[in-house]
Amino acid sequence: MYKSIIRPLLFKLSAEKAHHLTFSLTKIFFNIPGVKSFNKSLFKVKSLKLEQELFGLKFPNPVGLAAGFDKDAKLIDELASLGFGFIEIGTITPKAQSGNPKPRLFRLTEDSGIINRMGFNNQGIEGAIKRLQKRKSNVIIGGNIGKNKVTPNEEAFNDYEKCFLQLYPYVDYFVVNVSSPNTPGLRELQEKEPLMQLLNHLMELNQQQEKVKPILLKIAPDLTNQQLDDIIEIVNETKIAGVIATNTTISREGLKTPAEKVEAIGNGGLSGRPLGKRATEVIRYLSEKSNQAFPIIGVGGILSAEDAIEKLEAGASLVQLYTGFIYEGPSLIKRINKAILKKSHN
Ligand code: FNR
Repeated sequence: MYKSIIRPLLFKLSAEKAHHLTFSLTKIFFNIPGVKSFNKSLFKVKSLKLEQELFGLKFPNPVGLAAGFDKDAKLIDELASLGFGFIEIGTITPKAQSGNPKPRLFRLTEDSGIINRMGFNNQGIEGAIKRLQKRKSNVIIGGNIGKNKVTPNEEAFNDYEKCFLQLYPYVDYFVVNVSSPNTPGLRELQEKEPLMQLLNHLMELNQQQEKVKPILLKIAPDLTNQQLDDIIEIVNETKIAGVIATNTTISREGLKTPAEKVEAIGNGGLSGRPLGKRATEVIRYLSEKSNQAFPIIGVGGILSAEDAIEKLEAGASLVQLYTGFIYEGPSLIKRINKAILKKSHN
């Protein structure tokens, strides 16, 4: 039903309008009594074989929602009932900010891709906390954190610290995002020295809490092998819990969409099918080169169950979706879980 009725209607609207409409309609629809439990019975796949314990958290299944879709934690209960094993909110910045001027979100339908330069539009920590306090579902929540655009890189760690400390009681794991291409200068924080300092600082704060929570690092697919080697060293030295690979790419290689159209869109991060191969390469490289020293969450270009299995076989322990969820709808979560179960029987 999603691909034959809902998607064609949504794709008639601009990408950002469709996103907001989906949020409003989902809220209304899920307020109808019985809808949440109906969805649960339709989409949820429950099996001990899908469960796994990673960095002290018990994931009911390995398919999560990637950051950027529910930045402000507005739809946690609704998304949980669609069968996601975990949901990552954010990127959240300390203060609310409106992001880049519109238009800033573009579909590349021939490529099953998206280009976005949203620029961390979000309602800030306080807004997210208010909503997290009201959630009913106990789904695992990741808090993806970043810095405000106006904060210079030299002061970035204050922003990450604020997000970490204030969100600490409300999320199960943290993701340090230094890999978005849409905040000027942010990716410079992926360099060895500043990254080591930032992660060591957050780990120190973590150790001062009553319980240490997993901190993961989200990386760009555009890093060189040398930079990926640095990432392995940084994870091992700072003892953070793992890596999320990958964020969107600044590359425009291999697109079917006409070059003039791509050029007219301009800057931004590319996600979806064109990103899939590179994201898998990064996962495989990190996993092999580190001797599986830490867990990897694989994300980028998962549009089918086979794509997800490819990421798991390359070394990911869990996967996340964003663009595939837009193109394929919620049934993709179930299809992936079923395929994993089927494989485990073989
Ligand atoms: C994103 N992504 C993202 N990532 C992140 O860490 N913080 C963010 O705020 C956002 N925002 C965002 C907005 C939009 C519109 C898109 C399409 C993506 C990146 C996302 O989490 C994921 O890493 C990539 O999109 C690759 O996965 P898919 O989309 O190919 O499944």
